[in-house]
Amino acid sequence: MKDNHLPLQVKDLSKDYGSFRAVNQVSFDLMPGEIFGLLGPNGAGKTTIISTITTLEKPTSGSIHIFGLDISKKSKIAKTKLGIVPQELINHGYFSVEELLHFHSGYYGLFKNTSRIEYLLEKLSLIAHRKKKVRELSGGLKRRFLIAKALVHNPKLLILDEPTAGVDITLRTELWDFVLELKEQGTTILLTTHYLEEAENLCDRIAFIDHGKIVKIGHTKELIDQLTKREVSFSFRSPITKLIHPQLTEQSTHSARFTLSQTQNIGELLHDINIDLKQLKDISIKEGNLENAFTRIIGGANGI
Ligand SMILES: Nc1ncnc2c1ncn2[C@@H]1O[C@H](COP(=O)(O)OP(=O)(O)O)[C@@H](O)[C@H]1O
Ligand SMILES: [Mg+2]
Repeated sequence: MKDNHLPLQVKDLSKDYGSFRAVNQVSFDLMPGEIFGLLGPNGAGKTTIISTITTLEKPTSGSIHIFGLDISKKSKIAKTKLGIVPQELINHGYFSVEELLHFHSGYYGLFKNTSRIEYLLEKLSLIAHRKKKVRELSGGLKRRFLIAKALVHNPKLLILDEPTAGVDITLRTELWDFVLELKEQGTTILLTTHYLEEAENLCDRIAFIDHGKIVKIGHTKELIDQLTKREVSFSFRSPITKLIHPQLTEQSTHSARFTLSQTQNIGELLHDINIDLKQLKDISIKEGNLENAFTRIIGGANGI
């Protein structure tokens, strides 16, 4: 049967811890097959939002639906559609990687899940570690084990809370490649990460969250265009006279730098400053990125 419901719908979600409001009226939907990034500084409320989705925490108010199922009423069946990689590394007792993946499959009624487990061990570079006890694994390996565990039942919605924390750069790249492969297979993915450059490459859409609230939400590229500027630098063959232009940020005898919005035309700028094009030696353009957008919205001092 085809499921026409959205993978995730979060509506007016709030969560209080005593008198402290950790999540404040958060609403967002996930579209089928997209990668959605929840980005914000430490303590913004990302993990708390995720904990309410996975029913680890009970919302103070608001509603959450997973493929149309209200998790306050149908949490058991909703959870079978969901895979979660938690931020905290939990202790997994004395069993091996392989044993635990089989046990966890059993939880979903999958008692002969060998081919899926082999696929995950291979994809997450865990083959050489399959017999090791999970409690003896390094942080990075434990993280990969948790990703495999979250995927044993091939969930259509995957939630990754800081999946690459403590993972070195090579493995991080491998992990993100795997996330893209899952997306290609039709999995919808919600993630949080500290690596803004990686979020920029991966996420179709992003929500910036600060002090429990969504402060901006949109398509990654559109947010960057909206919130950042381009830096355009010219170098000249011979000394130039002093330029006067509202967007000039720096000038020396042989160079000048300007800050332009994403829609401003460089040809027009050259025309405005009335430079003989024969004098122009080089142009370099630095585009805005997600980090610039993040700093603009959240501020640099308490950045992630
Ligand atoms: N169990 C809890 N009891 C009290 N406060 C909590 C609890 N869990 C989280 N918080 C607080 O809620 C806020 C959001 O935390 P969290 O969701 O972990 O942020 P993030 O994942 O964005 O770093 C923080 O101020 C944190 O201290
Ligand atoms: Mg967190």
